Amino acid sequence: MKLVIDTDPGVDDAMAITFAALHPDIELLGLTTVFGNVTAAQGTRNALYLAERLGISVPVAEGANIPRALPPFKPSVHVHGPEGLGDLPAPEPTGKAIGESAAQFLSRIARENPGEIVLCPVGPMTNVAAAIDLDPDFIKNIKSIVFMGGTLDRHGNVSPFAEANTWHDPHALDVVLQSGADITMVGLDVTMSLILKAADFSQMAKLNPRHGGFLQDISHFYLEFYKTVGEAGCGFHDPMTIVAALHPEMFEAESTPLAVKLDGEEIGRTYRTSGRAPVRVCLNLDVERVKATFMDALATN
Ligand code: RIB
Ligand code: CA
Repeated sequence: MKLVIDTDPGVDDAMAITFAALHPDIELLGLTTVFGNVTAAQGTRNALYLAERLGISVPVAEGANIPRALPPFKPSVHVHGPEGLGDLPAPEPTGKAIGESAAQFLSRIARENPGEIVLCPVGPMTNVAAAIDLDPDFIKNIKSIVFMGGTLDRHGNVSPFAEANTWHDPHALDVVLQSGADITMVGLDVTMSLILKAADFSQMAKLNPRHGGFLQDISHFYLEFYKTVGEAGCGFHDPMTIVAALHPEMFEAESTPLAVKLDGEEIGRTYRTSGRAPVRVCLNLDVERVKATFMDALATN
C-alpha cells in the first residue's frame, strides 16, 4: 500500500508513523505536517526526527499552522507534552523539510501515482482541503482517504460533541467530506474501543527495544493525561487509522453521508446527513486482531 500520512505529531501520531515505517506491506511515500497537537513547525521537526530514528528516508512537507476559517489554536501541550513527544525534550533532527508546502506535495505525489495513494490524515484536515483547492485533479488522483477524526455515537474528547481533529478545523473537514473522494472515517467510536495501558507499552518495548522502547518513553505523559479525564489508558487513535487503511476487513462500517457542525455549541460534531456521497464510518472492530497487527509489526522489525 502506497501511503502518505498527514500528521500533527503527537504521541499517537508517532505510533502511527512507527507502524507505517515498520510494516512490510506499507510503502510510506511522505509525511505532511499540520498544526494540532503541536505547531506545524514542531510537527515538521518531530516528523523529521521520527523518520530519522526509524531509519527511513521519506520527504516531510510542512503544512498549515492555522485552521481554514477559525482563529488559531494553541498546541495541545497538556495532552502530548511541551514538544509533542511526551516528556522528551525538543528533538534535533539533521534533515530539513522539502521546499514544497504540504498541499503542493500532496498534489504532486498523487499526480505521480494516479489511483494508488492512500492518504491518512491523522490531524486537522486543513492540508487536505488546501490540496483540493490547489489541484482540481487531486481527488481523482488519490485512491482513498482514511482519516482519524470525528465521532458518531460516542461523546467527543474536546467538547461533549467534538473530537480534537474535527474541532481544530471543521471547515476543512467539510470540504473533504463533499469532495467525492473514497473516504473512511476512523473516529472515537472505534479508537476508544482499544485502550492501551502501561503494560501494553511495556510489551512494545519488550518486542522491539529500539522502536517500541521509544514509544514507551513517550507514553508516560500521554497516559497521565488520560488518567486526568477518567480513562484507564490512552485511545489507539492514529495507529488504528493506519491499520484500518491496510486491513479494512477488521472493521465494521456504516455507509452514510456525513457532515460536520461549523458553528455553535456543537461545532466540530460529525453527524449523519443526506444529499452527499456516502462515506464509510467505522463503528466496530476486531480489537484483538487490530492490536496484534500493530504488535506484530514491532515484533518482526
Ligand atoms: O482525538 C484524537 C486525535 O487528536 C489524534 O489524531 C491525536 O493525535 C490528536 O491529533
Ligand atoms: Ca494526530
